[in-house]
Amino acid sequence: MLYYIMELQIMAAGESYLKSTAAFSDRGNYREVFANAVSKICTDVKLGGVRSCLAIGPNEGLCEIEFIKRCQTNISKFIAVEPDHASAEQLRRSLRSSLPGVESQVFETTVQNWKGPDVLVDLIMMFQVLYRLSAVERQEFLKTVHDSWLVFGGYVAVQTNIRTKLLDCTSTSLIFEQLGTPLPTSEEIEADFLKAGFTKHYEHEMRVKRDLRDPDEDLIPFYQMDRVITLAELREAMKGLISEGNVNDFHVMTIFKSTN
Ligand SMILES: C[S@@+](CC[C@H](N)C(=O)[O-])C[C@H]1O[C@@H](n2cnc3c(N)ncnc32)[C@H](O)[C@@H]1O
Repeated sequence: MLYYIMELQIMAAGESYLKSTAAFSDRGNYREVFANAVSKICTDVKLGGVRSCLAIGPNEGLCEIEFIKRCQTNISKFIAVEPDHASAEQLRRSLRSSLPGVESQVFETTVQNWKGPDVLVDLIMMFQVLYRLSAVERQEFLKTVHDSWLVFGGYVAVQTNIRTKLLDCTSTSLIFEQLGTPLPTSEEIEADFLKAGFTKHYEHEMRVKRDLRDPDEDLIPFYQMDRVITLAELREAMKGLISEGNVNDFHVMTIFKSTN
């Protein structure tokens, strides 16, 4: 049943996911905030020993490629799992042009349906994708990642859109609450990582400004979780926020390490 919902969600987003990423991005300063954050993170966390990486749900890969380049990793292998066809095609092109000489593989499927990498990897990136898994799936997935996909001493870089403890009235977390699909808290996600055997290595918070006035169809893929939503529902859920103009999207990048 869960897989059916997942497929439904991806089909609903369909070919439009790639197009909508650009439209969504134009509504805020996410790229700029992300680039600044990664510069800081990679000064603090040394990832020069990373030779292979896996990206879960990278879409066209803008953030993941930026992370790999800014962190001065020494990768020779980039594996990706991306279910959206148009995004996977664009990702293949981006990998060829941005990381020439790096062997790349793009698997066009969901992470739940994927068999895993043939070899253990040094780094796994999960940016804005973990909340696409249910709580139970997330726990099982992180255990598999820890036990079977990552080298001992390897890193997982996780970026999530967090639900703040005190929901402030200009936070986009409210939209997910209104739609009946609240985001997991960063504490819940961290607890899952610790339970799977990881230790928390580093954390950096980001605040992205977004202009959500005049919401259109392009925003739907970003707020659609375990059921298909309509534009009318999304507008209703955004009502209080729309009048605010610029609203806050809170993100956190956490680096976990496999140490046992
Ligand atoms: C919000 S976008 C994030 C894109 C990118 N990681 C970033 O941070 O800019 C979510 C991505 O996850 C993909 N996705 C959705 N469900 C997934 C699943 N079950 N397994 C793997 N990827 C998934 C979507 O196709 C989409 O490209």
